[in-house]
Amino acid sequence: GSAQNGSFSWSAPSNIALVKYWGKKANQIPANPSISFTLSDCKTITTLGFSQKESNGAFSFNLLFEGQPKESFRPKIEKFFERVAVYLPFLKDYHFTIDTRNTFPHSSGIASSASGMAAMAVNLMSLERLLNPDMTDDYFYQKASFLARLGSGSACRSVKGSTVIWGTHEGTPGSTDLFGIPFTDVHEVFTTYQDTILLVDKGEKQVSSTLGHDLMHGHPYAERRFAQAHENLTAIKQSLATGDLDSFIKITESEALTLHAMMMTSQPYFILMKPNTLEIINKIWQYRAETAVPVCFTLDAGANVHILYPENVADKVLQFIKKELVGYCQNNQYICDKIGVGASSI
Ligand code: PMV
Repeated sequence: GSAQNGSFSWSAPSNIALVKYWGKKANQIPANPSISFTLSDCKTITTLGFSQKESNGAFSFNLLFEGQPKESFRPKIEKFFERVAVYLPFLKDYHFTIDTRNTFPHSSGIASSASGMAAMAVNLMSLERLLNPDMTDDYFYQKASFLARLGSGSACRSVKGSTVIWGTHEGTPGSTDLFGIPFTDVHEVFTTYQDTILLVDKGEKQVSSTLGHDLMHGHPYAERRFAQAHENLTAIKQSLATGDLDSFIKITESEALTLHAMMMTSQPYFILMKPNTLEIINKIWQYRAETAVPVCFTLDAGANVHILYPENVADKVLQFIKKELVGYCQNNQYICDKIGVGASSI
């Protein structure tokens, strides 16, 4: 196609961390490595229209959400463009139309920053590839993840791969603070893992992740926590490789509670779980003890609960969720998702 004008469309999924990223240094460098499952159905779909313009030293773009003008996204995109401009020198030579929508319900408490920034990054890389057609696929995806990271740290784990590691980690060759890399030494049971997201509280985030990461500066337990994330990553890689669900569950649940423990022990302190979050966790523990079904939970920086389980127990677990857990969700809402592959061009 012509590089004068045209458009690209990509979808990019959300992801759910097993070992959590919480705390960062300058330039979106994580304080510790993290690993996540890429989701499949919870995604952002973004169409990037571009047309060449006279370069006047300013960024130029229109913003649409579900086809309607959405000016409230402007500061975020402006900031993202400022951060990535040195890596994409053509940015000021174009006018862009950015039309975006999410497949998950509006203000569901599911963060759209990971999927949204990943979708922006792959679209911009498509334009760079149009200008430099010799680019390899590896370069395309690594740089897309690198750019996504500059938008929102965890977004770098939503670009490519089903299980993704981000952050320099001894014992993980190729791992880097700069972008996410697929972790492929994964037992079959994890290739079809399920994630059912219980929407406990759909309200606006009480603590932005920017503030949250900041709370780790001067946090009394920060250094020990960062070291623990390294240890947990080493251990969970082993669980993922061997299909050891017991250790997978222990690490995953402990990471979720540790994330919340960090918030409860920071200054200022926050409790982001709701009473129903705890009700759900207790029900899951009770169900697992009674049935030995390998189901566990994880949490993001909010009250919603992600329930993780193998595909071969999906019928049983969904029955349990409908019977015992749906009542704790806002408007009985939950989303059935599963492990995915990353961004795809539409
Ligand atoms: O990508 P950010 O800056 O919004 O941080 C996300 C942090 C957590 O979602 C709480 C954990 C993680 O690793 O995704």
